[in-house]
Amino acid sequence: MDKLVVTGPTPLKGEVVISGAKNAAVAILPAALLIDGICTIENVPNISDVKISCEILEKLGAKIDWIAPNTITIDSRNITTTKAPLDLTSKFRASYYIIGAMLSRKGSIEVGMPGGCKLGARPIDQHIKGFEALGATVTVEKGKIVANAEKLVGNNIYMDIVSVGATINIMLSAVLAEGTTIIDNAAKEPHIVDVANFLNTMGADIRGAGTDVIKVNGVKRLKGDATYSVVPDQIEAGTFMLAAVASKGDLLIKNCITKHLESITAKIVEVGAHVEDYGDSIRVWCDKRPKSAKIKTLPYPGFPTDLQPQMGVVLSIANGTSMINENIWESRFQYTEELNKMGAKISAQGKTAIFEGVEKLSGSPVYSTDLRAGAALIIAGIVAEGTTEIYNLEHIDRGYENIEEKFRNIGANIKRVTE
Ligand code: EPZ
Repeated sequence: MDKLVVTGPTPLKGEVVISGAKNAAVAILPAALLIDGICTIENVPNISDVKISCEILEKLGAKIDWIAPNTITIDSRNITTTKAPLDLTSKFRASYYIIGAMLSRKGSIEVGMPGGCKLGARPIDQHIKGFEALGATVTVEKGKIVANAEKLVGNNIYMDIVSVGATINIMLSAVLAEGTTIIDNAAKEPHIVDVANFLNTMGADIRGAGTDVIKVNGVKRLKGDATYSVVPDQIEAGTFMLAAVASKGDLLIKNCITKHLESITAKIVEVGAHVEDYGDSIRVWCDKRPKSAKIKTLPYPGFPTDLQPQMGVVLSIANGTSMINENIWESRFQYTEELNKMGAKISAQGKTAIFEGVEKLSGSPVYSTDLRAGAALIIAGIVAEGTTEIYNLEHIDRGYENIEEKFRNIGANIKRVTE
């Protein structure tokens, strides 16, 4: 079993380069199943969720080559089966994108129930509603999802809830459908725009991604034969911004799109830290104890739930009492118990957590309960006095590329130890 050993406190200083976005990459890879040809994808983060996506695509008959550390080619000309391996698809959340892509390309798919971080109930009713509106039949039984369609025909779909996954999945299923699909009340996250841009580069006709109405005009075939680069990871950039604030450091975060970071930038300024925006990089520094704040997580462009735990570390050491209202997931405060082991004073109930800021955290053994909780615990370990041991690293490795190396390069005393 691996653990991360972090000794602090250390103010983080220097430069860090952001990788391609995990949540874009895990949708773009299945989207490549729609292409009757070959595509090249650059800036692919080398993380375990991406590796599992590649394995699933290969089991379906696609050929994948890593031609450089972060560049792959995918040849989806010969899809040989419509049964995705149940064990692999159940390992992570984004395997549900295989359904939309394969329904559109082959009219049939069988996958395991998607897994992923345990953040409370994670229904997929909106995905199914979309597939059915296009003419598919979907059954969910005994841990698997089976979807079939003789023919998919475009339709108007109103999403009852703003869902990143359902918006992308319906977009995928509509790409090769007959006629036009309109997705109303769509999610607007940067990775939705990125998946649409990827598909359009390969020959699709998708308009309006990034607004709440997306129009997909079905095309007969995606021919590929093009290269696309995955958008920089907004959440990884935000993680390092918050690490700079919590550690009273000074970081230049390179290869990011600062427009995607506006909500987090606003809150960082509110707690008294400084931000300089250069468009494709951002400097964040903090020279005093952060002030308290109120945070509400919301769909984009609101404050992202995926930065809520990292912001929680800042608020746990802020001057005064803070509050976080989590509006996306029912169970995303599990990390607060781990921070309390380190001396934080956080009480979480239902959707709300109250943070009574303490002057310092102290090192302790802690357990990463999900991906972003793991990132938050690394930041807490860097801020805390003494040594923190972080367990359950498989969560962190799902979504952050070379995380300990990136933190080490900006001064953190962090190492991975195999017990
Ligand atoms: C995506 O999950 C991300 N995962 C999550 O990132 C992120 O937290 C989330 O979007 C919100 O931004 C990937 O992109 C792989 P949703 P997703 O559908 O698509 C409810 C991380 O740490 N809902 O937008 O699964 C749902 O229960 C991860 O990187 C329905 O009710 O999230 C939730 O309350 C964790 N029915 C809300 O909508 C549905 O059919 C938003 O979920 C679908 C969702």
